[in-house]
Amino acid sequence: MKVLVFGSLNIDMVFSVDHIAAPGETISSASLVKSAGGKGANQAAALAKAGMAVYMAGKIGKDGLFLTELLRSYGVNTDHVKVYDGATGQAIIQVDREGQNSIVLFSGGNHAIEQGEIGPILDNFERGDIVVLQNEIVHTGKIMEAAKKRELRICLNPSPYDEKIEGLPLDLVDMFFVNELEGSALVGMTEAGPPETVLNALVSRFPGAEIILTLGKRGGRYGRAAVRAGGEIVDLPVVDTTGAGDTFTGYFIAARARGGNVSGALAIACRASSIAVSRKGAMESIPLAMEVFP
Ligand code: RIB
Repeated sequence: MKVLVFGSLNIDMVFSVDHIAAPGETISSASLVKSAGGKGANQAAALAKAGMAVYMAGKIGKDGLFLTELLRSYGVNTDHVKVYDGATGQAIIQVDREGQNSIVLFSGGNHAIEQGEIGPILDNFERGDIVVLQNEIVHTGKIMEAAKKRELRICLNPSPYDEKIEGLPLDLVDMFFVNELEGSALVGMTEAGPPETVLNALVSRFPGAEIILTLGKRGGRYGRAAVRAGGEIVDLPVVDTTGAGDTFTGYFIAARARGGNVSGALAIACRASSIAVSRKGAMESIPLAMEVFP
């Protein structure tokens, strides 16, 4: 089984700050580090580190070639990452002393993907393969429709959540990865509701899909029809939460694909993301399979 991550690749510019800058405030950072990121690329890295055969599709400028080099070093096939004559996506990230972050995105190559590029890429995949999507690129709805036509299974992490999500053919999704805010928004709630309420509402709204609700320090919850399961995080120091959700997504998909049951996959995903938050950076903080699988 092959996994295609059709998603974003970003250059992360990470500012270490005492606190996240407030409106109108100017603050200094203790350090500035350029590193590898993008929700798509991070999820591809997590899947590959977890031992899956992973293919990344997306678009970068020449300034982002270090991203494909790094992905290849983890075993990700990057043949479907196109290089165009423009800038790579970029994320300006503030990480505060508690490890919490605030992110501003510049879309760059992530929004330069052309509709005509989708079909030829998906033609390399077949029934039962998995496509993993987020919300940092263009044409996500077209990718979903083209993937379903080829009988691929669709995993969607609708992050960052915006109005584009509501225009997607969400009934085609087989597996949703959402945090409390995203999950609440998907069922029309204006603020984050209690996890169990949100999970139940998502299960009713998407009866054919598996729902994975990530809850930060409170771990993760799973729902499908009448089935419910939960996973707890591992108590490790929080250094940088950037990429924690991406790590969770990649490891959960990998653990299920390796034949693990839902509770086992939640435990693996929680362990992987707990390790990731105990280290600096996004893609580089994602642990290897030997650190995560028992
Ligand atoms: O999920 C973390 C990622 O979000 C960062 O790597 C940044 O690039 C943004 O896409």
